[in-house]
Amino acid sequence: MTMTRDLSLPADLFQDLPMAAPDVLLSLIRLYREDPRPGKIDLGVGVYRDGAGETPVFAAVKAAEARLLAEQRTKAYLGAEGDVDFLAAITPIIFGARSAAQDLFPIQTPGGMGALRLAAEVINVARSGAGIMVGAPSWPGHGSIFSAVGLQVTPYPCFDTTTQTLLFEPMLAALASARCGDVVLLQGGCHNPTGADLSLDQWRAVTQVIAERGLVPLIDLAYQGLGQGLEADAAGTRIVLEAVDTALVAYSCDKNFGLYRERTGALFLRARHQAETVRSNALKLARCNWSMPPDHGAAVVRIILQDEGLTALWRQELDGMRARLRKVREHLAQQLPVLGGLAEQNGIFALLPLSPEDVAAMRADHGVYMAGTGRINLAGLTDDNLSGFVTALRGCRPDLFA
Ligand code: LMR
Repeated sequence: MTMTRDLSLPADLFQDLPMAAPDVLLSLIRLYREDPRPGKIDLGVGVYRDGAGETPVFAAVKAAEARLLAEQRTKAYLGAEGDVDFLAAITPIIFGARSAAQDLFPIQTPGGMGALRLAAEVINVARSGAGIMVGAPSWPGHGSIFSAVGLQVTPYPCFDTTTQTLLFEPMLAALASARCGDVVLLQGGCHNPTGADLSLDQWRAVTQVIAERGLVPLIDLAYQGLGQGLEADAAGTRIVLEAVDTALVAYSCDKNFGLYRERTGALFLRARHQAETVRSNALKLARCNWSMPPDHGAAVVRIILQDEGLTALWRQELDGMRARLRKVREHLAQQLPVLGGLAEQNGIFALLPLSPEDVAAMRADHGVYMAGTGRINLAGLTDDNLSGFVTALRGCRPDLFA
């Protein structure tokens, strides 16, 4: 058989391929590494650091890893669902013992990003090009993933950087105007990038709009335990889950177990009227994407959560992280009145009222690295560099930070 080439197409597959824009957060890692200045400050990617600027492996993780090494007998495949005992162990931590956990089926994913990707693909196979509302601002990965899959992203207002306050009424009004069946992305706690979380009353009001309008919540819970505590940080998610028949929750253990590169997460799906159909589609999509999730991080989390002593140690380490973040927040709020709101916010991020030019000047003149939006990772501020950072901000924008 003779094959004829379609001459309307260029012979080189990649000839017309444009350059992809670099990832705004990951490119900061390289820029920071290449800066030779000794006093540089990394407030870029969201990785927890202790007071000495280190990101040590949790002691509970080290102990679980030692046990895993000694006891693991096989590395045979587990299946697209992942480690079901890991999933069973994290379920009550997230959803509690009450009805929020009912009729949820979990799938282990490569980190929270894998969970979001899988969520987006499940939504898209169910309804091609479905609408999804995403907070403005939100983590840049949200918009990228949803658009890449083909969902139609619409922003809803959620934060005013200048006053450091939630735009709750505008947010609620935007959700109330969504079409029935639209998906709404909500961050469960420790909002990335603003740190500004909904109060419980606000969660209840949002839940009411979701239920009344027939919207589908997709909750991203990536920092449980780094805000107010494990229970408090999941309270909003549980309020929503008590009230809806259809929901998706993307969960990450990367931050609260310090497992980052092990890529440990899960997607929880509730589809009360189509459970088996949705489950079969989700498993098929997982299989097409990564076949099976990486095992190590999930095995470590399972070992920790199945052991009372290790669980207590893990909780203690998490408490220490949270207390340190709180201290940094309080310090900045005290030093810089314009950032007073930081003391009430949660987690590792804050969004400063800086322009892209200010951010560039902070980097060029003071060696301070942060996202172009003005987002800072508060955990990058240590006993050694906190006052230098405050001085740099005052120098960069004396009108704001005097
Ligand atoms: C961040 O927002 O910095 C983290 O969630 C890391 C990432 O993957 O973007």
